[in-house]
Amino acid sequence: MPLVTTTEMFKKAYNGGYAVGAFNVNNMEIVQGITEAAREVKAPLILQVSKGARNYANPTYLTKLVEAAVIECPEIPIALHLDHGDSFETCKSCIDGGFTSVMIDASSKPFAENIEITKKVVEYAHDHGVVVEAELGSLAGVEDEVNVSAEDSSYTRPEEVEEFVSKTGCDSLAIAIGTSHGAYKFKPEQCTRNAEGILVPPPLRFDILEEVSKRLPGFPIVLHGSSSVPQEYVAMINQNGGNMPDAVGVPAEQLRKAASLAVCKINIDSDLRLALTGTVRKFFADHPEKFDPREYLKPARANIKELVKDKLINVLGCDGKA
Ligand code: G3H
Ligand code: 13P
Ligand code: ZN
Repeated sequence: MPLVTTTEMFKKAYNGGYAVGAFNVNNMEIVQGITEAAREVKAPLILQVSKGARNYANPTYLTKLVEAAVIECPEIPIALHLDHGDSFETCKSCIDGGFTSVMIDASSKPFAENIEITKKVVEYAHDHGVVVEAELGSLAGVEDEVNVSAEDSSYTRPEEVEEFVSKTGCDSLAIAIGTSHGAYKFKPEQCTRNAEGILVPPPLRFDILEEVSKRLPGFPIVLHGSSSVPQEYVAMINQNGGNMPDAVGVPAEQLRKAASLAVCKINIDSDLRLALTGTVRKFFADHPEKFDPREYLKPARANIKELVKDKLINVLGCDGKA
């Protein structure tokens, strides 16, 4: 089937109490690892491209890689989404270039300005059959060149969501309930330590999610910054020349709970990066004499596939829903 929008996916996810995985893509091996996993477990899929990915790989290459995945995986619905679109122009370029979904992230702007920019994108997108994700509240962490400190992050204010959605006409809403971008989501002082000395982060603000979904019944909610930062990959990196102390993510149980509520889209990028980097670092430590990229990217792609399969089945619950 051709690329689809997220409308049908979200309707089914909302009613079925699961979430669709939105995975960031930056190169061929990442696209292949994700799509092979989704195909195998028959899961609907969102492949998303950030501004940084467009700068790195060039938009044409990424779009064509996703189109290749659509040809290879005809049985599953795939949406191509712009992650963190920063302006009307970036969103327009993706809409004109064949994306089926865009995010306009004007969450750092004042409320009225966020509404104004989002509304403009929605009008253009809807005229072209494309859906729009918007954001209210702001997450801590690193995304593109922007680094938002924990102090500058702010939870979504539930009392703003009805006005925002009705005035903009957006199709889904990303909210801030304590998730954060990158591999260092929480400072050690925000966490407790379990018996093995592993950092345990503070719980997400489910009270905010519940209040938002009460005010927007049936409306799809999105969670960014939802990597769990698997400790086996952090250890693999640190045991093979890396230095990532106290990297910590969102526990899988919290994401499972969010997926059973109004959250229909869960964004995962950092976990893919950790799987790829850990695998490549270990490969070189084990085989210092090797230099063929196919040899070290093959196990990295295989580990991304396994990681994504685990997410689809055990975290998002969207296996078999294609
Ligand atoms: O939210 C940010 C995503 O992880 C994309 O990251 O801007 O480094 O491509 P990036
Ligand atoms: P992570 O950094 O937690 O993977 O979040 C990715 C994301 O939100 C992309 O928009
Ligand atoms: Zn994000």
